[in-house]
Amino acid sequence: MRKSYINNLKRNYPNCRHDGEPSDSYEGHCVTYGEMEYNGIQQYATTIFRLFSHGKRNIGTNEHIFIDIGCGNGKFPLFMASYPCIKRSIGIELVKSRYENSQNLLSSLSVNFGEITQKVEFFNMDMLKFNFRETANGVPCFIWISNLCFPSDITHKLFDKLHEELPEGSIIGCSKHPFNGEQTSPDKQQFHFTKKIHIPMSWKKEGSEVFFFTVK
Ligand SMILES: C[S@@+](CC[C@H](N)C(=O)[O-])C[C@H]1O[C@@H](n2cnc3c(N)ncnc32)[C@H](O)[C@@H]1O
Repeated sequence: MRKSYINNLKRNYPNCRHDGEPSDSYEGHCVTYGEMEYNGIQQYATTIFRLFSHGKRNIGTNEHIFIDIGCGNGKFPLFMASYPCIKRSIGIELVKSRYENSQNLLSSLSVNFGEITQKVEFFNMDMLKFNFRETANGVPCFIWISNLCFPSDITHKLFDKLHEELPEGSIIGCSKHPFNGEQTSPDKQQFHFTKKIHIPMSWKKEGSEVFFFTVK
């Protein structure tokens, strides 16, 4: 079932793919597009599950919430929903056309894979307005942020918000270190840096840096 779902996702995804820049203006935001490769998502998932379970193999079924902050066309949350340990897989995207692409992809997959797609939800909104506290409801979350292009003040605001709203033990993966060389907020003490790996991205197939943090 999982294998067939992933094959269908890979087959359907190119039909919705939108690589160009949106025609609407999103002033004050960085809406540059790029995405993680499928084998990269697997690598992200394996890493985050291991970090969460401190190296143990089993991390439970239907227990965890995954959130892709800036999910583009929704490929990442749709892929993450296929893991049995994930009970909700959420994507937040500012650009309306990308959000619509993700909804179309979700509907097309839900015809045969409702058991998996019912875990997925997309929100067309600004990540800084999303209520992470209410969504997490006390359950540590797994977060992905492709923030390489985000200006550092936005990344700082987002990390401040995540620290305030996410339960302790939540794990964040991001494509740009939020504190390096910066003296401003967020306070480094709010997060525990755990790991850096290289993951294949659409703009760097040989692997681009991904940093993992645990919320203290
Ligand atoms: C580089 S793409 C990443 C796509 C996907 N997460 C991945 O890694 O494969 C970043 C996305 O973040 C979105 N974005 C930028 N600012 C945002 C904001 N304030 N709220 C929600 N999404 C935002 C962009 O429109 C873009 O689609």
